[in-house]
Amino acid sequence: MATTTATLKPVPFDRGRHPLDYTIGFYRDVKGTLDRLYQRNGPVVRIGFEPFASTQLFGPDANQLVYQNKDQVFSSRLGWSWVIDHVFPGSVMAMDGDEHRFQRRIMNLAFKKPNLVRYLDHMNPHIAQGLARWKPHHHFLFYPHIKQLTLDLGTSVFMGADLGKHKRKVNRAFMDAVEGSIAPIRKAIPFTSYWRGVRGRKTLVNLFASMLEQKRREDTADFFSQFCHSVTESGERFSDQEIIDHMAFLMMAAHDTTTSTLSTLVYALAKNPQWQEKIRAEARAFNKPMLQFDDLAQATMTELCMKESLRMYPPLPTMPRMTTREVEFEGYRIPANTLISVSPVHTHYMKEIWTDPDTFDPLRFAPPREEHKRHPFAWVPFGGGAHMCIGQHFAELQVKAIVHQLVLKFRWSVPWDYVVPYQLVPIAKPKDNLPIQLERI
Ligand code: HEM
Repeated sequence: MATTTATLKPVPFDRGRHPLDYTIGFYRDVKGTLDRLYQRNGPVVRIGFEPFASTQLFGPDANQLVYQNKDQVFSSRLGWSWVIDHVFPGSVMAMDGDEHRFQRRIMNLAFKKPNLVRYLDHMNPHIAQGLARWKPHHHFLFYPHIKQLTLDLGTSVFMGADLGKHKRKVNRAFMDAVEGSIAPIRKAIPFTSYWRGVRGRKTLVNLFASMLEQKRREDTADFFSQFCHSVTESGERFSDQEIIDHMAFLMMAAHDTTTSTLSTLVYALAKNPQWQEKIRAEARAFNKPMLQFDDLAQATMTELCMKESLRMYPPLPTMPRMTTREVEFEGYRIPANTLISVSPVHTHYMKEIWTDPDTFDPLRFAPPREEHKRHPFAWVPFGGGAHMCIGQHFAELQVKAIVHQLVLKFRWSVPWDYVVPYQLVPIAKPKDNLPIQLERI
């Protein structure tokens, strides 16, 4: 039966126990807060306080509606701009329609298979050098070490540069820019996270701008160079400013998400040593110190564990959009100009889809179970539709390449009763830097 606006229900407004209940809840425990909201209200609920209220949509059908965006009702531009425009303006993630298609078409060229093969070959020796510097310790802080390694890889494979003495400054600039993206106070008051974020952005822009001329001249195996030289069949290419904006965003999108994934994976493999051994056995069977592109598909144990890590701790736990017209979901009327969110971190724990969702169980992704196939939008760490992560294959490649070398060189563990304290927003990461006991093999 066709639904008319008159027959649709208004979205329930959950005001919580006090005006800041859910706002604080989101910062403290986004997963628990979303679950509470879903249990109390069902698949759609409005929270917060006007004019900053937002509507949460839950479940795989909501993901499908929003990501597929068939009628172009959900704007990424209007959803993301408040979050990232001051630190990552001009990013492809915050574009809509023709502008997005245009930028993504050019960007796609840098992610074609021949380029991925070159990036991997370029990265492998850098991974080996990075891991060679790791010193086994009973209290080895994994998170800062892996962040440094992925940053080093980022500067070599993304920028084609060795930052030398500027390394710390650039690392700081990235962290500030990411933290600045969720700053609650949006004014450049000195020493606030917003102020640091804007300053971080400036450092990045100056760095990329200073390298641009040389990059335009050279043709090397890095994203920066590819962005300078990519031309589509119809002659479309990036301007200087577009290259700078895309580079800043890409480095962030690639670096923090992969760092997050590797931290979760290493934590899970410390808690589940049988899986660490399975991956080590798989790595030894390759009988080579570094994986090549054609090996990647055979690294199935790593793949299952990576998928499960991304289910349990999706680096981007929720994603915003803004409605440009009225839209219906599950019999509810969502008006135009509504800020909405979909939440992989909620869908990934729904008991309706996943068996025992709190348990690390990589085999849920393998035949015959394949729980992720119960709905095409059940497992969505990379989003979906037109904005689906452009770097998904690169991320898989990088994680597999690092894990391969890591399990061959090291074994690690955590005390049996250790539980990592996670901060889920803006990008999932361990609050205590993930201390592990690291031994060389
Ligand atoms: C495990 C690692 C990663 C995860 C979980 C992840 C997740 C995501 C998600 C969920 C989106 C969609 C956001 C939305 O719909 O609003 C996205 C978009 C994007 N990601 Fe990733 N990402 C990862 C790694 C990477 C890497 C390695 C790169 C680059 C090399 C990258 C580049 C991008 C870009 C450019 C977009 C915007 C695409 C567009 O809007 O068309 N990501 N990512």
